Amino acid sequence: MHAVSLQVPPQMTEKLLTVDNLSVRYPSRRFFAAKSEPAIEDISFSLQAGHILGIVGESGSGKTTLIRALLRLIPPATGKVTFNTENWLALKGKALARARRRIGVVSQNPFLSLSPRMNIAQILTEPLHAGGQTRPDKVVLESALNAVGLPVGFLPRKAASLSGGQAQRVAIARALMLKPDLLILDEATSALDVSVQAQILNLLMEIRYRTNVSMVFVSHDLAVVQHLSDDLMVMRRGKIIEHGPTEQIISNPSQPYTRALLNTKKTSGNLGGTTGIAGDPH
Ligand SMILES: Nc1ncnc2c1ncn2[C@@H]1O[C@H](COP(=O)(O)OP(=O)(O)OP(=O)(O)O)[C@@H](O)[C@H]1O
Ligand SMILES: [Mg+2]
Repeated sequence: MHAVSLQVPPQMTEKLLTVDNLSVRYPSRRFFAAKSEPAIEDISFSLQAGHILGIVGESGSGKTTLIRALLRLIPPATGKVTFNTENWLALKGKALARARRRIGVVSQNPFLSLSPRMNIAQILTEPLHAGGQTRPDKVVLESALNAVGLPVGFLPRKAASLSGGQAQRVAIARALMLKPDLLILDEATSALDVSVQAQILNLLMEIRYRTNVSMVFVSHDLAVVQHLSDDLMVMRRGKIIEHGPTEQIISNPSQPYTRALLNTKKTSGNLGGTTGIAGDPH
């Protein structure tokens, strides 16, 4: 893979996603609890088309809860979400199915998210069926693999025969099959070695510049998020405590918590210097 220095976000101002006052409460597990604590509370932000938003925060800060609410996997207690100018939380039936296809999802563990029985060609074909297409042409599958830096010879292979990084590339290719407007990635590189992690981050930046897909990238690791995102959102105890352009937050964090995260990052190593690793995808 070649060196990537694509730091300047595209000049676009169109809002793809707007979240207003989103809160989620899980049912209380304590019998005598007066009422449940909100897992996320009053979350508001917007994402411009073509931008990458990084969400960072310690374990339990509510990152996955926010993503699950955005994907409508759990119902929010309050809030409004506008996606592609539509009232996303109110969509039903065919309109919902159509809008869902505009969002691709990549999760942490590709070996759990990719079916072990299917080969890569079948895995990449599946979203096309859901999108109403019948038999995809081989060229489409081959270019989907090429777009994530994998050789076309991988098409007949099973996911279980791939490395973690290769399998995550397949998961990214699958998420992009329907050319979504938004890619949501929850800890998508957290299970990978640092060098492989850097390759995947470079790939995501390449993909964004090639396709202009917007991304929400969640990680507990500030080094990872910082490397990739145009805008950064720091979450703590279910709330946004800091939000703005990544460079601004990194150079001048307003919260002591963000400063502490930055200091942890400095001691645990920095992915920023590992861009453009040569060689085969791992
Ligand atoms: N299904 C659930 N039922 C009850 N409480 C939950 C449930 N899922 C998460 N929580 C609680 O909600 C809070 C936020 O959890 P969440 O998984 O969103 O955090 P996170 O930031 O994604 O953490 P991590 O970095 O570990 O993935 C935590 O206190 C968690 O215990
Ligand atoms: Mg999580």
